[in-house]
Amino acid sequence: MNSIRFLFVFLAGLSFIHANSAQRGQEIYSQICVTCHGPNLDGGIGPSLVDAYWKYGDTPEAIMRAITKGINGTEMIAYEYVYSEEDRQAVTDFILDKQEGNRQTLRSFYARDYFKGKRFSPELFDSVESTSQEILPENFLYTKRAFDGIVRGQSKHFIKQAGKYRFNVNAIGRTSIWVNGEEIHYADVEKSKDTYLNKEFHLEPGIHQLDIMHEEPTGHSMRFNARIRKSTGEYWMLTGKSLEGNTPKIVRPETEAKVVRKWIDGLPPRTLLVLLPNQVMVAYDSASGQVLKAWKSALINQTPSLDSRSQNKSVAKGQEISGAQQTILKGKEFSLKSYEPAGDSLFISTLVDGENKRVKVSPEGTDSFSISVQ
Ligand code: HEC
Repeated sequence: MNSIRFLFVFLAGLSFIHANSAQRGQEIYSQICVTCHGPNLDGGIGPSLVDAYWKYGDTPEAIMRAITKGINGTEMIAYEYVYSEEDRQAVTDFILDKQEGNRQTLRSFYARDYFKGKRFSPELFDSVESTSQEILPENFLYTKRAFDGIVRGQSKHFIKQAGKYRFNVNAIGRTSIWVNGEEIHYADVEKSKDTYLNKEFHLEPGIHQLDIMHEEPTGHSMRFNARIRKSTGEYWMLTGKSLEGNTPKIVRPETEAKVVRKWIDGLPPRTLLVLLPNQVMVAYDSASGQVLKAWKSALINQTPSLDSRSQNKSVAKGQEISGAQQTILKGKEFSLKSYEPAGDSLFISTLVDGENKRVKVSPEGTDSFSISVQ
């Protein structure tokens, strides 16, 4: 692959977000997208639009393309027939405005030879050809097992609040991290510790350039982990594991009620699966105000692998509770506003024919539930 061209495309993605447009975007989002991507953009039937993982790309162009053309064979339709280009741009801007952490992560691999005895810097890489380059949908760095050489990760880091930051780096081998063209972290096991560097630095809200350069001392799996940490303790991982080949994950109840955001075979896409601490799960359709089904001893098998993040149907396991189906709210127009756990119960707020309604779902005994309008 021609790495110079690739880089150019990568750098051209920067966009500026206008307040008016983001407001119009919010309007559209809460009319339509909210039912699948959730009131906080953190997912439902559709994937989260605020986590680090972007299957179809996280450049402004890629997000706009997903909205415009839709995603074939999934619930995500092409919105070019629904909204004007200006409106689609507005909702793209709204999504971009919600981003935090790493985006547009480009990973490049290099052979060692050229770098022997030289201190890493972004310029040093200008005159070497990478052996491979890839944009990573996970937005953190990882290497394959038995990786041998140098890895470089370039990304855009989205910050919403100004603050002080520091890198926590745990690495064997040499590592250098630059932010907006300035060296912030440097360490090399072969050099004296006096030469090490790990500065605290300040970031303003906006998009910042992150550049990580790391050499593994011997051919092995990556023994390198790093995160960027705010002085308040909040952090983003900069390294991790590929989502490819992930094993199935089982969702179990916890002490708080929660909504499992997964599509279950045989249920309409806007169904909320409320998993209660007593292991009872209630399928509540927020688009019709009905309980459709319920199970006791329930578990969900979800598989967050790269190819099947959300259009793959999950499997609900458990014993079906007979006679659970019932109508909770009556009306013509339903629009889901939010849901929030309160201890062992879950509150679901819906607008029904213009009126706010709050539904409470609570566990009852060891294998039942109650549901009521507050
Ligand atoms: C009926 C459900 C539904 C609605 C409504 C919906 N989406 Fe989606 N959306 C999905 C699904 C499902 C996917 C993921 C498909 C996949 O993973 O293959 C998706 C994917 C996306 C992606 C790509 C995410 C990625 O990881 O690359 C974007 C961006 C997106 N939707 C934005 C929107 C916006 C903006 C709206 C409102 C205009 C919207 N969606 C409305 C279901 C929906």
